[in-house]
Amino acid sequence: MRESIKVLFDRQQRKQAVMLMVFSLVLALIEALGVGSVVPFVTMLQAPESLEGTRLWNVLIMVFGQRNSQSMVLSLGGALLVVFVLKNALTGIQFRLNYGFVHEFFRRLSSRLLASYMAQPFVFFLGANCAVLSKNVMTETYYVAEQIVAPALMLFSEVLVLMAVIGVLFLYEPVLSLVALGVIGAVLGGIYYFSGHISRRLGRTRESTSSQMAKVCHESLSGIKDIKVSGTEAYFVGIYDSQAKIQTRATALHLTLEQVPKLVIETGVAGTLIALILYFKGSGTDASGATATLAMYLVAAYRLMPSVNRINTSIIRLRYLEAGYAAFAPVLTEALHRNVFEQTPAAPLPLEKELVLTDVRFRYPGGESHVLNGVNLRIARGEVVGFIGSSGAGKSTLINVILGLLKPDEGQLCIDGRSLKEKDIRSWQAAVAYVPQHVFIADDTLAHNVALGIPHDQIDWRRLNHVLDVVQLSDLIKELPEGVSCQVGERGARISGGQIQRLGIARALYRDRPILVLDEATSALDVETEERIIRALHEDSKDRTILIIAHRYLSLRNCDRIYRLENGRVTAAMTYDELQRSVDNISS
Ligand SMILES: Nc1ncnc2c1ncn2[C@@H]1O[C@H](COP(=O)(O)OP(=O)(O)OP(=O)(O)O)[C@@H](O)[C@H]1O
Ligand SMILES: [Mg+2]
Repeated sequence: MRESIKVLFDRQQRKQAVMLMVFSLVLALIEALGVGSVVPFVTMLQAPESLEGTRLWNVLIMVFGQRNSQSMVLSLGGALLVVFVLKNALTGIQFRLNYGFVHEFFRRLSSRLLASYMAQPFVFFLGANCAVLSKNVMTETYYVAEQIVAPALMLFSEVLVLMAVIGVLFLYEPVLSLVALGVIGAVLGGIYYFSGHISRRLGRTRESTSSQMAKVCHESLSGIKDIKVSGTEAYFVGIYDSQAKIQTRATALHLTLEQVPKLVIETGVAGTLIALILYFKGSGTDASGATATLAMYLVAAYRLMPSVNRINTSIIRLRYLEAGYAAFAPVLTEALHRNVFEQTPAAPLPLEKELVLTDVRFRYPGGESHVLNGVNLRIARGEVVGFIGSSGAGKSTLINVILGLLKPDEGQLCIDGRSLKEKDIRSWQAAVAYVPQHVFIADDTLAHNVALGIPHDQIDWRRLNHVLDVVQLSDLIKELPEGVSCQVGERGARISGGQIQRLGIARALYRDRPILVLDEATSALDVETEERIIRALHEDSKDRTILIIAHRYLSLRNCDRIYRLENGRVTAAMTYDELQRSVDNISS
């Protein structure tokens, strides 16, 4: 964990952290000065004559230059005031610097984590839950910044203050300060030792329940239609609430645990104070000396108690939040080492001649058997190729392999005779436009959904209108009051299923790439609309290589060749006429 936290800070932030530490050191010294001045001040008020001639008196004369104890009191009071004003003004500045540092840390961590997730291979997402990932990006990173980095900074400056104040105490009262040091050390050591296990366990509970809550909340709201119709609202709220209950208990226990040491320390301080009074009384120390020491002790306790409390809170929090950090640390560290944060768009890798798959085998992680079981096929540039096969035959998986989203376990994918390497995948993908079986719709306008990921002022409106024409959406858009600026709703809630598919095709065409892949892209359309779209699409696609998966054979009419996939193998290659004949034979 320590190694992976170190990797989170870049050079500039490390420098800033060092500056903040130096700042803390200065503040700790001022703090000590403030506490240390109390003894002469109180003694001066009570019994100025007892100071005269001492070493302290000589130091005071050196600093203030007066020999008269009356004016010395005034100077000392004034100096004390200055020290406290200075200390608090600097503490104010320190707060601003610390908060700035911590929140800048959060911004960078959060954006980096999002980039790290996006840089993960597609397989990673097959085993992940998006609600949990977005919780990690937005919430867990915040916890790390607020409750790990901030406490760590605080821990450092509080330990300095603690040492400085105890150091001053030591000058006046060595025995007492050693006792205080021993007590504080024992209490903090005890907290560190005993809270570790419990805090870590509570932290794990918090992380896992908040993941569950994020997941259930996301599912309850995004699946609202099915949930409403099936009347299962109570079930989902019930799961959410049961997780929230577990989390509540853990949080309450954690917060209580944070407070307990404070109570122990307060008892210890009061106990020491009483013991001290009794000690002075028993040993017959003169009243003025005792009062001054007690005053300093009180000031030191007043300053040390919050400090010790904050140290203890930091220790407990660090342990408590380890689990949240552990949830995303591996992905982030790996991405940091690969430096994936400034990915520029790749230059497309053009298909000059052919795409060949040889003996491609693929099994999903954790899957029982191979979904692709030795696929061999060849697609020449400019060809229109169809894929058919029963549901679950492996068509979409094959497309994912061709797209470079899934890496074959065996066999290879060659482009123009060269096996597709990891480093070429982004270039290869830049040459492909893809309409997935389930089209993703962003909660944005129609135009931004077609030109997805392109800034508004860089949209090619002529191309946009042309592709909307191709997918037969232009007439519909003309009737809309806002035209292409109409909002389509989250996941296309305000448009029909067929319109979602057509937006998907328009998006793929807008990119105008040499290879077009359609996975059941027209399955929700009526035959007539589909036919018109396919005709227009082919007119728009001179020299484009097209791969089409379809259950409805009519969609494959323009294909040069059609492959049949069965149980992860290509079992037949035919023309459209041959396909039709085989269907006729079966039906007759
Ligand atoms: N992430 C996954 N993990 C494990 N198995 C998977 C995963 N995704 C798909 N499969 C399995 O792989 C097989 C092939 O799935 P695929 O989506 O390629 O089928 P398909 O031919 O496209 O079917 P359809 O026509 O219904 O779209 C299926 O049996 C499916 O259960
Ligand atoms: Mg499929």
